[in-house]
Amino acid sequence: MTGYRVGIVGATGVVGREALRVLQERTFPASTLKLFASSRSVGKRIGAHVVEEASRAAFHDLELVIFDTPDEVARELVPLAAAAGATVIDNSAAFRMEPDVPLVIPEVNAEALRHAPRRIIANPNCTTATIAVPLAPLHKAAGLRRLIACSYQSVSGAGQRGVDQLWAELQEAGASRRTPDRPRGSAFAEPIALNVIPAVGSMRGAVSSEETKVAAELRKMLCRGPRRVRAAAGCRAGAEATGSRARRGTGGRSRRGARSHHAGGGRTRSLPRRQNPRR
Ligand SMILES: NC(=O)c1ccc[n+]([C@@H]2O[C@H](COP(=O)([O-])OP(=O)(O)OC[C@H]3O[C@@H](n4cnc5c(N)ncnc54)[C@H](OP(=O)(O)O)[C@@H]3O)[C@@H](O)[C@H]2O)c1
Repeated sequence: MTGYRVGIVGATGVVGREALRVLQERTFPASTLKLFASSRSVGKRIGAHVVEEASRAAFHDLELVIFDTPDEVARELVPLAAAAGATVIDNSAAFRMEPDVPLVIPEVNAEALRHAPRRIIANPNCTTATIAVPLAPLHKAAGLRRLIACSYQSVSGAGQRGVDQLWAELQEAGASRRTPDRPRGSAFAEPIALNVIPAVGSMRGAVSSEETKVAAELRKMLCRGPRRVRAAAGCRAGAEATGSRARRGTGGRSRRGARSHHAGGGRTRSLPRRQNPRR
């Protein structure tokens, strides 16, 4: 059979399953397709595939490996896959800002793929990706100096744990007809069902890690411009899938002293210091 020998690491997660779906939908020319996850998932079946444990030995004989794992897992395993001879596309934040790792959206800066000396290619944060596609031609034509961006993100951005927490809280809310008074999971420090939390990632002072990433990644991809990016990004909304819209939010509010609002009741809570450590 002709085609690439491909692996997906993190294939049981939200992003890994989506990567598999897209490869299949586009009939990507793969002669081999191997799925990997942690030892917890060994033997699980995803369609016709059986999940294997990701390890150094697992990568030999693969040409292209897509990583959809937490940062710390990518930090450990991505170099092993590259050393085994594969080209790696990493969706985590582990290598995005390293100077010898191109940060690529094909529609924006495909030419950066020419310089990938470590055979590692990073993919930006999904907020950055959404913003960069329309901004790139504007920047090329006119030069962007300053950007103010707001984003509303669904719970799936926090991975399977985020999706599970939303559904557990929605079930409780449906049964009791009250908004949950405490989180039913570990993805968010506050209940997320029927809620919008004005922060994504960890907070450093009044700035969230999501905002810092969007600014830094945009600058890297758009060749150092715009000089000032004020990314007021990161409201986490109680909706499952990316692209879902919150009915009421807190976008545009000052980060300082920000409070989260229940969409229905108008009750306020203090901004939690840490929401989910991901993306
Ligand atoms: N969700 C998004 O919208 C989004 C967007 C852009 C980028 N990202 C990034 O993509 C990555 C994956 O996100 P996700 O939302 O898919 O997370 P997720 O749903 O929590 O899935 C994590 C995946 O990593 C695997 N994993 C965990 N520990 C492992 C280990 N030691 N060895 C091998 N595999 C391991 C898990 O396998 P088990 O099932 O066996 O635990 C699972 O398949 C993260 O870095 C995230 O920041 C996410």
